[in-house]
Amino acid sequence: MQLNLEPGVPNIARIYDAMLGGKDNFAADREAVARLTEVEPLSPLYARNHREYIGRAVQLVAGYGVRQFLDVGTGLPTMDNVHQIAYRHAPGSRVVYVDNDPTVCAHARALLTGDPGAVAVVAEDLRRPERILEHPETRRLIDFDEPLCVLVTGVLHFIPDEDDPHAAVRVLTDAMGPGSHLVISHITDEEVRRTRPDDNRSGMDVFAKSNAPMHPRARRDIERFFDGLVPVDPGLACISEWHAPDPSDIREDLRNVWLGAVARKP
Ligand SMILES: C[S@@+](CC[C@H](N)C(=O)[O-])C[C@H]1O[C@@H](n2cnc3c(N)ncnc32)[C@H](O)[C@@H]1O
Repeated sequence: MQLNLEPGVPNIARIYDAMLGGKDNFAADREAVARLTEVEPLSPLYARNHREYIGRAVQLVAGYGVRQFLDVGTGLPTMDNVHQIAYRHAPGSRVVYVDNDPTVCAHARALLTGDPGAVAVVAEDLRRPERILEHPETRRLIDFDEPLCVLVTGVLHFIPDEDDPHAAVRVLTDAMGPGSHLVISHITDEEVRRTRPDDNRSGMDVFAKSNAPMHPRARRDIERFFDGLVPVDPGLACISEWHAPDPSDIREDLRNVWLGAVARKP
């Protein structure tokens, strides 16, 4: 991923913000969303479904008694941020937000760190996980002897295989103590390739012109992020259906594009 603060170049954090109806985006980002929506009309719905998935995942893990959260690839502050969800279900939780985009970190510091005793923002890169773990703000708020929830949602498909995202996640999960949880979500193109083999229009083209091209993965490669952990039922599933109150509501065409799972460290 190239860090690109040019307002004329669509930026993945701002595209996502625009899809969620946020205000922290530029014309180039909104144009990218318009192009994306032309090819994948359900993209804004996916984005909202995805934030709801994060809400359900954090609620579940808080329900297990986890009180500290490391959210890597935070994104621009938007609907229901992790610390707000955690506070609702587990008052007294501590949250460290990590992002490698300086604009995201500046917005996050302004909006998310109202309680510096409980929330911090770390400007670091998932591809350098040791630096995230060693950062003084991480050390200040996270006790690695206690159960921790690491969230890596909507980020891993922006990291190509040559940067070895599996190894990066493994460094984070190796640092977690027993009873900790990993929350992941990831885009897959397996279903699109199967059902629309001749359709060469793709949302990938939009991201190719952004600061971070997208690298969807096959289901088995997404499952590998959880190696060594025990999946929470139902395992890797469509984010819109994962622990959804009424999975029968899910539109057929929303299935199997964006997958998510939660897993526990024994
Ligand atoms: C689409 S947003 C996802 C936000 C949030 N995690 C969510 O799932 O709703 C992706 C975020 O990941 C950040 N990001 C991308 N690559 C990263 C990396 N290598 N290290 C840290 N953050 C990264 C981007 O800057 C952006 O803010």
